[in-house]
Amino acid sequence: MCGIVGYMGNQDATPVIMSGLKMLEYRGYDSAGICTMDSGDIEIRRSSGKLINLERLLKEQPLHGTIGIGHTRWATHGKPTVANAHPHKGGAVVVVHNGIIENYQILRDELSKKGHLFLSETDSEVISHLIDEKLKTAASLEEAVQLALKDLQGAYALCILSQKDEKTLIAAKSGSPMVIGIRGNEFFVASDMPAIISNTREMVVMEDGEMAVFRNGEVKFSTIDGLEITKTSHYIDWSPLKAEKNGYPNFMLKEIYEQPQAIRNVVAGRLRMDEGDVFLEGLNLNDSELNSFERLCLVACGTSWHAALTGKYLIEEYCRIPVDVEIASEFRYRDPLVSKKTLVIPISQSGETADTLAALREARSKDAHIVSICNVVDSSIPRESDGVIYTHAGLEIGVASTKAFTTQLVALYLLTIRLGRANGTIDLIKGREMIAALGELPSLVEKTLELDPQIEEIACECLTSWDAIYLGRGISYPIALEGALKLKEISYIHADGYPAGEMKHGPIALIDREMPVFILAPNDRHLVKVRSNMEEVITRGGRVIAVCSEGDHETSKGAEFTLHIPWAGEALSPVLFTVALQLMAYNFAILKGKDVDQPRNLAKSVTVE
Ligand code: F6R
Repeated sequence: MCGIVGYMGNQDATPVIMSGLKMLEYRGYDSAGICTMDSGDIEIRRSSGKLINLERLLKEQPLHGTIGIGHTRWATHGKPTVANAHPHKGGAVVVVHNGIIENYQILRDELSKKGHLFLSETDSEVISHLIDEKLKTAASLEEAVQLALKDLQGAYALCILSQKDEKTLIAAKSGSPMVIGIRGNEFFVASDMPAIISNTREMVVMEDGEMAVFRNGEVKFSTIDGLEITKTSHYIDWSPLKAEKNGYPNFMLKEIYEQPQAIRNVVAGRLRMDEGDVFLEGLNLNDSELNSFERLCLVACGTSWHAALTGKYLIEEYCRIPVDVEIASEFRYRDPLVSKKTLVIPISQSGETADTLAALREARSKDAHIVSICNVVDSSIPRESDGVIYTHAGLEIGVASTKAFTTQLVALYLLTIRLGRANGTIDLIKGREMIAALGELPSLVEKTLELDPQIEEIACECLTSWDAIYLGRGISYPIALEGALKLKEISYIHADGYPAGEMKHGPIALIDREMPVFILAPNDRHLVKVRSNMEEVITRGGRVIAVCSEGDHETSKGAEFTLHIPWAGEALSPVLFTVALQLMAYNFAILKGKDVDQPRNLAKSVTVE
């Protein structure tokens, strides 16, 4: 994972790199570091923990120089200590690395035998020593880097400096993302565009197997085998969204409260009420092309996978098309059965999740057609897709996904309408009805947000619990999974979601007086069955928190606490139930004094497998 930044120009490199790292902190915040080069003198500052610690260190021990590289880390190999923080120096060479070097142990053993002294437990340090070793025989730093990269197995995006070549910065990539910004004779390297877009909008997207050598105000692009190539920059016309809390105590709460607007944004310009249809501008498929697919395959990780599961309920129910839902990290390695008759839909907030991207490439290699659902514009997943449905949720900073998830649900609802209209399973009347339901949704989300004080009281009462269970049936089952994931990732309370009917096959053994059980009971066709499951919990002394629909006073009988959620219809109720469960997890975490924006061990974008 991790985020990298590089700079070469005429300004002081440190503030440019630090502002880039700030934008990349979503990729990891276990440690951070920076290295600048000033007339051949290399100086490094590193600190463990969040970027703020590095900022403090730099105030005490400032750096100078107009060339530099920086890193924010999500630890894979080696604990989050200062010694394991990047940049890593091996001999004269300093590197920052995003990715994983799979054969690092073999290389490390070989280099140790040659006298290289390793100071960290990371896989990345080996890269600096390897380049330093190659420098002994290579004609230039550039050649040494090319020779070293041949020996590496795994994924990398690298920025490299050497004391022996004070005018050069090298960037190379294979398997991890990298963009280069150009402003005259100033160059910016980063893991993604938002990290450098405040400096320039002229961007070059680097592809696997490519490298860039910056020297004396010029850049030369080549393959990592040394074959010179021409790369053209593109003007990026979208504006960088500012990460501001706007008076909220943290980003997560702000993003939860932004959901009414985010939902307005995902539907904006896409509804065609007269035709009972929607227009998805990036889909790039007409009706007959859409109808040519035999099945759909939704592939994603984490919260986005929960959206995919919800999508399966919607699409199969309304469009009668078979839908497979795949966890990307499994899909990519099991020789999946997809063909050109399969529409593969990767779903991702960031568009950079390594497993989802690899799943996309796997599907592509089997000739599948790919339409992604993504939030971050121009990120790797939409760039590699044949079509894209952007969710327009806006910048999501909080590590726990909130508005990105609910907008994914709405995007899947829109796609359902489109597919159903294309194959005739949704007629004009039904299409109009589905569109009309969307119109109400933002205000119903606002009403759901008003439940916050009540939710806080419930969280307060259940605060001492170490475990929780979430139960749902039908389309509420993925929402139970999502509610449980939100709780565990930000409050560190263990939680599991189950299909309510599964409880008696095992999880019921966990029920006792200490166990809060969140029962998702919207007023849909499953309500009677869910009530029975609730009774089973009550009978065994469990603490039931019934999350049911407004006006349902039957389900609340016997529950210790009840939340009444506005009714948005069966297909859209997952959005509102999700909002309530987000607030539930949020209140638990805040009452426990946790950092909801940057929970321990997590990162916003998982760019390693
Ligand atoms: C949980 C969460 C993660 C992400 C997952 C996929 O709140 O945010 O589970 O959903 O890492 O990320 P994207 O959607 O960026 O591919």
